[in-house]
Amino acid sequence: MEKIIIFDTTLRDGEQAPGASLNHKEKMEVAQALADLGVDIIEAGFPISSPGDFAAVQEVSKNIKGPVICALARCLKKDIDAAHEALKPAKNKRIHVFLATSKIHMQYKLQKAEDEILRLAVENVAYAKKYCQDVEFSPEDASRTEKRFLYKVVEAVIAAGATTVNIPDTVGYSEPEEFGALIRSIKANVANIDKTVISVHCHNDLGLAVANSLAAVKNGCRQVECTINGLGERAGNAALEEIVMNINTRRDIYGEIETNIRKDHIYQASRLVSRLTGFVIAPNKAIVGGNAFRHESGIHQDGVIKERTTYEIIDPAVVGVTGENLVLGKHSGRHAFVQRLKTLGFTLSDEQALEKAFQRFKELADKKKNIYDDDLRTIVEDEIKVVEPVWQLVSFKVNSGTGIKPQAEIQLKNKGKVFTGVSSGDGPADACFKAIDKVINAKAKLEDFRLEAVTSGKDALGKASLKLRVKETVKTGNGSSTDIIEAAVKAYLDAINKIVSE
Ligand code: KIV
Ligand code: ZN
Repeated sequence: MEKIIIFDTTLRDGEQAPGASLNHKEKMEVAQALADLGVDIIEAGFPISSPGDFAAVQEVSKNIKGPVICALARCLKKDIDAAHEALKPAKNKRIHVFLATSKIHMQYKLQKAEDEILRLAVENVAYAKKYCQDVEFSPEDASRTEKRFLYKVVEAVIAAGATTVNIPDTVGYSEPEEFGALIRSIKANVANIDKTVISVHCHNDLGLAVANSLAAVKNGCRQVECTINGLGERAGNAALEEIVMNINTRRDIYGEIETNIRKDHIYQASRLVSRLTGFVIAPNKAIVGGNAFRHESGIHQDGVIKERTTYEIIDPAVVGVTGENLVLGKHSGRHAFVQRLKTLGFTLSDEQALEKAFQRFKELADKKKNIYDDDLRTIVEDEIKVVEPVWQLVSFKVNSGTGIKPQAEIQLKNKGKVFTGVSSGDGPADACFKAIDKVINAKAKLEDFRLEAVTSGKDALGKASLKLRVKETVKTGNGSSTDIIEAAVKAYLDAINKIVSE
């Protein structure tokens, strides 16, 4: 078996996606999920960029066992010092140094000539090497770099000690054949290329990030940089789940190539990243979208019943999707509930959260005939809050209907005291949000608001997700209930509590 190294950059490039920022605890949750998923390397952040990034890299280095922990640095000594400092607690670490090499970047962004770029790349790889044996170098915008210069830089950084050379398609400009040929040509034209691992890092501006990464694999690259759900700058990065499942599904093409990814953790990791970042997954998204394994047409349904592989190239259970399973009902006990959660990948060590989730399950079972895995996932995710709620919902009342200006009354608890807020609004949810704002005296701006049904049927559990801004802070909030207004109120309070706790 030949291994493809999976280098996950959800916490670095992924978190650079506009509006995707995660707080410290959320980053730790994602890092643990990545370790459970079996990624080989976690790029945990860019330590010089902010104290928050520094602290996140440091804490991931301290607490996450298994993967190599990587930190990003420009070709500047102060960046490399910060990366080294933040990575100190890690058992296995990597410093990732980058510098642009394309004409357009060198001329307009850096205002530096080729000779200087070459010197800086070599000097800084050698500098990082003093701290760490494992050094990666990325010639940023490699796919638009003149080949002659790219070969020269790659050869020089390998001679300076780079153990991995990453070829980024920084602006997602390449086409698969072209990108595969680029990797082939680097192998053919860089004399010392065998002394390093070739990596690729593809962006999705033309929707080709995964196709380009796979073309590179076919041409000898052995590390792929990717993110959960393809999160990342602009149109995002290559999606980890798609790379892994292509390699796994098309054995006829990829032969003996494998990854270390525990595929049955894919769906869980995808949901976590979506919930924490507020980036909703499109229903038709490959592998992890809500419709990825749903068969609507009669002919397809009939085919799948007769033989699953007629219309399914991946068994959903392989990637941890069990959403349509009818699992529990009103008479199911605590033991069955806990067992099912374990199968879904949740280990609730907090007894209180477990008890609350179980009570939610019982309440739901009273209202809803059939409880599916996705219902369970949603109520448990609802109870695992990354911050202790400062404001708790006691009750809410809404009056709305045709020709009535919606009115809401909200009761919230803070430190044992109950506060009441009343407001009208443009709709019932808006009236509730305004009543909450009155109680806590916040000037919050709703930036995104979505409602969806978790499963099908009139009694389906509703899930609300939103983004809320208070001054410079933007937080996501999630809530669920069979009453969609209650789900919206819970989501709003979830975001408020995250903002207050910061
Ligand atoms: O897209 C890019 O070029 C990057 C580098 C820092 C690897 O993110
Ligand atoms: Zn990138």
